[in-house]
Amino acid sequence: AKISVIGAGNVGATTVQRLAELELGEIVMTDIVEGLPQGKVLDLIQAGAIKGYDTSIIGTNNYADIVDSDLVIITAGIARKPGMTREDLIKTNSKIITEVSRNIAKYAPESIVINVTNPLDIITYIAMKSTGFDTKKVFGMSGVLDSGRFASFIAEELKCSKKDVQTMVIGGHGDLMVPLPQYTTVSGVPLTDLLPEDRIARLVERTVNGGAEIVELLKQGSAFYAPSAAIVSMVEAVIKNSKRILPASAYLEGQYGQEGIYFGVPVKLGATGVEEILELKLDENQYELLRKSSETIRNVISQLKV
Ligand code: NAI
Repeated sequence: AKISVIGAGNVGATTVQRLAELELGEIVMTDIVEGLPQGKVLDLIQAGAIKGYDTSIIGTNNYADIVDSDLVIITAGIARKPGMTREDLIKTNSKIITEVSRNIAKYAPESIVINVTNPLDIITYIAMKSTGFDTKKVFGMSGVLDSGRFASFIAEELKCSKKDVQTMVIGGHGDLMVPLPQYTTVSGVPLTDLLPEDRIARLVERTVNGGAEIVELLKQGSAFYAPSAAIVSMVEAVIKNSKRILPASAYLEGQYGQEGIYFGVPVKLGATGVEEILELKLDENQYELLRKSSETIRNVISQLKV
């Protein structure tokens, strides 16, 4: 497969590193900054001699190099600084992504597109509109990361292995995300049997603020190790057509009472992209949160000119 990563920043380059190590296909990484993708790619190619991979990787400033990609991952744009919300990024990033999307449509019209750039649900919508692609082929990475954070906090609390924690976080990728404790298990044992409600509530709250916690510590830039790991799980599900059920920002057409917007829901991921959207039963509070998060997203979308 040919995989292109737009943006050679923290998230883009770390994603390329992980993909190269897995030898999933040939990779192209692009950026507007001259020399940046080329320099990082040279470094990554040389790492292959030590880590033992032969993955073909190209670093470029030229969109023509993404020609005929099977999969394109968008990570171009600006990230949060302390005190900023994901929504603060919208003006700059929507402009960038409109341009990026037009180039994807031009050079890789058959590709599946995974958007990562924030504000996630909005930018994914813009990517779908400005590529003109089928909604099933364009989706966003959010819930896999948020679920990973939730799982990590649960494992820490229970002093158990992260590998045994299975969880699901849906809703918007922001303050209104909806972690789902009732769909969380540790090796099949319901989380609600393992921890009292107030302790689960604390873990949920830390999950919602998981990105901000890192932004505050770093003082510049935002998370990229867990985000790139999340991207790679989604890429693998598509490339290997594995039909994994993962949360993703997907285009809703009536599911969860929502239409015409993107937000996080459990989907089945395969070679054609989002193959199915799963509708889970939620409790009243969670429905209310979903309604709020969809309202916020809808408000922003209604002001967009795409
Ligand atoms: P970064 O600042 O390290 O990298 C962004 C890169 O995009 C830079 O190298 C920049 O030169 C490039 N760029 C800017 N305009 C471009 C254009 N027109 N064409 C091509 N490249 C362009 O930022 P980082 O940390 O890699 O984050 C990237 C984006 O991903 C941000 O919007 C961030 O908020 C988002 N993000 C989303 C996550 C999620 O869960 N969905 C998790 C982590 C980050």
